[in-house]
Amino acid sequence: MPRGFFITFEGPDGSGKTTQLRRLAAWLESEGRRVVTLRQPGGTALGDRIRSILLDSRSEATHGPIAPLAEMALMFADRAQAIHETILPALEAGSIVLCDRYTDSSEAYQGAGRRLGSARILAMHQAVCDDLQPDLTLLLLPSLDSSLERARRRNKRTAQQKGTDENRFEREDDDFYRRIHHAYEVIAAREPQRVAAIRDDAGIDQIETRIREIVAARLPAKVS
Ligand code: TYD
Repeated sequence: MPRGFFITFEGPDGSGKTTQLRRLAAWLESEGRRVVTLRQPGGTALGDRIRSILLDSRSEATHGPIAPLAEMALMFADRAQAIHETILPALEAGSIVLCDRYTDSSEAYQGAGRRLGSARILAMHQAVCDDLQPDLTLLLLPSLDSSLERARRRNKRTAQQKGTDENRFEREDDDFYRRIHHAYEVIAAREPQRVAAIRDDAGIDQIETRIREIVAARLPAKVS
């Protein structure tokens, strides 16, 4: 059975990766490819419950602050479920899986942001995810200033429109986001084969074109 192709999207909050993921999915489908999309945390019924614990700042009123190691473990519980329920079955069926965030996010946010260290995250990945690595990671890394600004604007809008409050991470200070940014740079330098970094602040359409070029060059023709 042909194995599919596993692509993850990474970047700081507000880097525009969700938009790019949707556009790539639409393009691949228009090319006749079978595509499965998901986001982390979330994407499964269990994952959506974990997501609301992790991201809703109001949930802290119920259970108090989440300890950094508990946060890490919840991210990986979510990921393990998504691998089991969605990612592996889709890859085994020969689909292209597009995942909005994956273990690089844990390395950046929990490893660097919460200062748990990369080694612990990578060990957890090996233990809980059987070390399942993406075939390709598209890392959208705009300047720190512009990604911070976009994240804050988006968060305010979400709270106003939907009455939801997924802003636990946006409450963090600029140093937290600086560490995340730097961690992504380190990951990209460490794994240039897997990680394609798109560093500039080009417009949405130019970034979309770049992503198509990168994906077209990497995607095996036999994947359907
Ligand atoms: P989300 O609303 O999906 O944000 P974005 O559109 O920026 O991806 O929220 C996901 C948040 O969870 C984001 O702030 C990053 C954080 N996160 C981690 O801290 N660790 C992880 O392993 C993952 C997957 C996400």
